[in-house]
Amino acid sequence: MKIGVLTGGGDCPGLNAAIRAVVRRAIQYDYEVIGIRDGWKGLVDVDLIPLTRDSVSGIHVKGGTILGTSRTNPFKDEDTASRVIENIKGCGFDALVCIGGNDTLGVADKLYKRGINTVGVPKTIDNDLCGTDYTFGFDTAVSIVTEAIDRLHSTTEAHHRVMVVEVMGRHAGWIATYGGLAGGAHLILIPEKPFTLDDVCRVIERRRARGKYFSIIVVAEGAKPEGLEGYITRESKRDEFGNVILGGIGWFLAEEIEKRTGMETRYVVLGHLQRGGTPTAFDRILATRLGVAAVDLVKDGVFGRMVALQGNRITHIPLEEGVKEIKQVDMDLYRVAEVFFG
Ligand code: F6P
Repeated sequence: MKIGVLTGGGDCPGLNAAIRAVVRRAIQYDYEVIGIRDGWKGLVDVDLIPLTRDSVSGIHVKGGTILGTSRTNPFKDEDTASRVIENIKGCGFDALVCIGGNDTLGVADKLYKRGINTVGVPKTIDNDLCGTDYTFGFDTAVSIVTEAIDRLHSTTEAHHRVMVVEVMGRHAGWIATYGGLAGGAHLILIPEKPFTLDDVCRVIERRRARGKYFSIIVVAEGAKPEGLEGYITRESKRDEFGNVILGGIGWFLAEEIEKRTGMETRYVVLGHLQRGGTPTAFDRILATRLGVAAVDLVKDGVFGRMVALQGNRITHIPLEEGVKEIKQVDMDLYRVAEVFFG
């Protein structure tokens, strides 16, 4: 049995732990594992690397991905899609383990429907894939955001400022909600709940009126004012899947808050810091369990599925279900965070 493994889309902490788990489980079954470089790009160009017990030794502690990643979309046109399918067959892969988020697993599903044996492993710091309680990468991102908010408290308070902290979260505000809740944010803005500038300023002013001379606002990059189509961004570029390159809402809010309230306001964009570095123990363990489970599906001949965490059990669901929509923030949790606003 020859298994190809790839990591696609934005990287996240835990990818290497998942790759190591795939290789180690496959070795137990006497399967061969070939790494595909840079996500789907490695199947357009046929860029492969054999993976052995030695080559994955100790990588579970490292951020990034030893295979590299990209946002290459093989379904951007039919020629590329056919070429990728031919290449998969030409390489003699019996199965592909695809580690990715919505876009990568969407491609895995399309390939499955065209006769390729794919299994998906969910990852993304955004935690927005359906059918799994958590994706690995998310816990690490939340701990980075929490530490950043803790540190921003002292400087923001010392200067009696408003600090806007922009975090990742394209379509869903999981990182903002968890990080903001853990860090004690005074307001959290997420894509699921469009805001008005009047409401934002009211929360800040109410806090000042209570004698608290600083405010920390956490905003997900995909959050937007009520009624706005599209996003507030500083760039208009898109990736091959059509995703807008986000970033800019923090700057926008800081400008508007200062203008409207007269309070000195700064903003910080945590950006790719949230995706870098060593994974937490939670992410290492989740990635490892999912990687092992993916190879078990290959062994059982079960394809077109995404391994998933539900409760504390690893299970699997159709790939199609994992990617059919965005898993949005649980509003009960958001209401808990709201208790601490202002
Ligand atoms: O999809 C995960 C993610 O981290 C998003 O939160 C963010 O918008 C995007 O990736 C950034 O992607 P890139 O690294 O390609 O700019």
